[in-house]
Order: sequence, then structure tokens, then C-alpha cells
Amino acid sequence: MAAIQIAPDIFWVGAIDWSIRNFHGYSTDRGTTYNAYLIVDEKVVLIDTVKASLFDEFWSNLSTVVDPHRIDIVISNHTEMDHSGSLPRLMDIIGRDIPIYCSRMGKKNLTLHFGGGYNFIPVNEGDVLEVGRRKLTFLETRMLHWPDSMFTYLPQERILFSSDAFGQHYATVARFDSEVRREDLFFETKKYFANILLPYATLVLKLLEKVKKRGLEFEMICPDHGIVWKQSIDDLLRSYTTWAQQEGQKKAVVVYDTMWHSTEIMAHAITDAISERGIEVFPMRLKVCHRSDVVCEVLDSTAVVVGSPTLNNGLFPEVAQFLTYLKGLRPRNKVGGGFGSYGWSGEAPSLIEQELKLMGIDIVVPHLRLQYVPDREGLAICKSFGEDMAKAILDKWRQRAQ
Ligand code: FEO
Repeated sequence: MAAIQIAPDIFWVGAIDWSIRNFHGYSTDRGTTYNAYLIVDEKVVLIDTVKASLFDEFWSNLSTVVDPHRIDIVISNHTEMDHSGSLPRLMDIIGRDIPIYCSRMGKKNLTLHFGGGYNFIPVNEGDVLEVGRRKLTFLETRMLHWPDSMFTYLPQERILFSSDAFGQHYATVARFDSEVRREDLFFETKKYFANILLPYATLVLKLLEKVKKRGLEFEMICPDHGIVWKQSIDDLLRSYTTWAQQEGQKKAVVVYDTMWHSTEIMAHAITDAISERGIEVFPMRLKVCHRSDVVCEVLDSTAVVVGSPTLNNGLFPEVAQFLTYLKGLRPRNKVGGGFGSYGWSGEAPSLIEQELKLMGIDIVVPHLRLQYVPDREGLAICKSFGEDMAKAILDKWRQRAQ
């Protein structure tokens, strides 16, 4: 893949990771890209780098635009290794004295990653950097999603270099939103939000408010992963607002795992009962659904219903893992409940309930446990559990609508 000009004198010079399928625990079914951008003005400015293992592709792309030794300025919007990993090798070639503009936390992180001896120049919100005809400015976006994260804005062309925000794990030879399937693009954007940005949803809303107050306009949003946004920016910002507000739809996820299918039979009975009330519902077994896909559905759901068999007086490991993951993402405004089949002790459903409570999920139906295989009576109890859950979803939905 060669460098691509995305605007006059502005180039994508990143790298494509076609075969990555697990990004530190996030399933990346479409691979990903690590985006770096080059602005060729009186000064030559590089924004971010790529994962260390893809340095050669990045270097080759850079070299098709300019001799990389001509780079005058490096900007590090984000220090996570997928964007900073190639920095040491690059600086060793082009010169360690070349200034690296970054946030204050960026300087600290890069020093902790790669040691000293670099010319780090910390910048603050609103600082301006003249690079010739253009002036770049910086936006502090601390904790979106790391303490060092920042954006770089190019007012002349109204281009935002947005670090991880607005990104998607989506490997493609296309570079613009108009060149890919819209459904795939928004699915990957939503999945990225759910798995990376959800814990910081309040900060996302503050950022969107700040952008509005400052009257910033965008012709292009260039994230560090996936495609560049140009045609669908309004839809993107609207989607981010909706996701960050976490006002769930008339929708539920029944997430579970099972040993001998009894908890699965319960999950299906509960799913049917919820569905019969006109609610969209997804039964997702953790053995076959990756947790990062489950939280993508949880993002715009009102209810999270979790099922687990009891194993050695505790939770089934896949369910325990999912609950730990979900807790870290800090979902808000959800209702939920726990259920499961057991043999002789049966602790799992109440443990689920405790975990959901700790996350701030409103337990609207007491946990349900059935011994061994659900019989006709057991299935009727599951149906009743599902109906109570459906009622709680509809009540919450109506409250929001008022
Ligand atoms: Fe794409 Fe936070 O790194």
C-alpha cells in the first residue's frame, strides 16, 4: 500500500495490519490500520507513527512522498505503542534532535517507553505551531483514551487529526468513508467506541460540547485507525453523541455460557419471553461470541441479562471474564439480572447479580436459578423472568420518552 494524498500537500503514510485478529483482547475481524499523516509545508510535519513491526511499510510510504530526512517536526498525538512504536527507529534515522511535540503526559509516557535523549516539546490546549502557510493547533483530550491523548487541528483546511477517537479497526485499501460499505464502517466505529471509549463517555460529551462552543468545523476527521471521515462527519458526530449518552434502545442482550445446555435452555426461554413483548433481543453465548462483540450490542441495549452455570461454587470462567471486562467499561443506564442452572450449590446467579450491582446496573428481576435440566415448570419460571425483564425495559423506555 502506497502513501495517499488526502488533501493538497497532506498525505496518509500509515500501515495496514491485514491479519491482526486480536488487539489486546479486542477481536479485530477486519484487521486494522495504524494511520500516520504527513503535512508538507515550509516545514515537513509527521503526525504519529505506526506499530514497530510495520516500520518498513511506514518508511516506504513516507519515502514515496519526501525523503524522510526532510522531516522537521514530529507530533505524537498518542503514545500507545500502536502509534509510537516506530518512533525510536525513525528518530535514530532522521535525528534525535528533531522536535517531538506532544502533551505533558505524552512526554512522560514516551520517556517511560523509550528512555530519554529525545527533543520532546510539551504543548498545551490552544497552543499554535506555525509550519509555513499553515498553523497547527492542539486540543487537550486527556483520557480519550489515555492520559497523554491529544488532537491536532489544522484550521486552514479544517482537518482534525483525532488520535484514537473516531477510529475503527478496519483494514482496507480505501482511505475515505465514501469508499467503504456504510454498514460495515458504522458497525466497526460503534464497536470501537463500545470497547475503547465507553469508560470515558462523559468526557466524549464534554469534548463534543467544547467543539461546538469553539465553533470548530471539520472538512475531514483523520483518526489513527481505519478510514478518514469526510462525507459522513455529521452522522459520525451524531452517533458519538448518542453512544456517549448511553440511552439504550428497546433492546436486550442475554449473554451466557453453558456446560450441559441447561443454562442455554434457560437463556433461550428468557430470550423468547423478552422478544414476545416486541423488544429486540440478542442471545449471545460467550463460547462463540467474543466479549468485544457482546459489549458492542450492550452499548445501545437497555438490559443486560447474564447467565452462568455454577462451577466449583463460582461463576463459569467465560462469564466471570466477561463481567470483569464489562465492569471496566462502566456501562450506565442499564437494567439487568442473573440466571443459571446448577447441580447442588448454585451460587452463580447471585454472584452475577452482585457483580451487576457493583457496576451500577439496576437489578429489576431477582436472580433465577434452576437445578439441573429445566422441566416444563422451570421453563414457565424462565418465561416469567423474561416477561418481568421485558416490563422493566419497556418502563425504562417509556420514562425516557417522557
Ligand atoms: Fe490506537 Fe490507544 O492506541
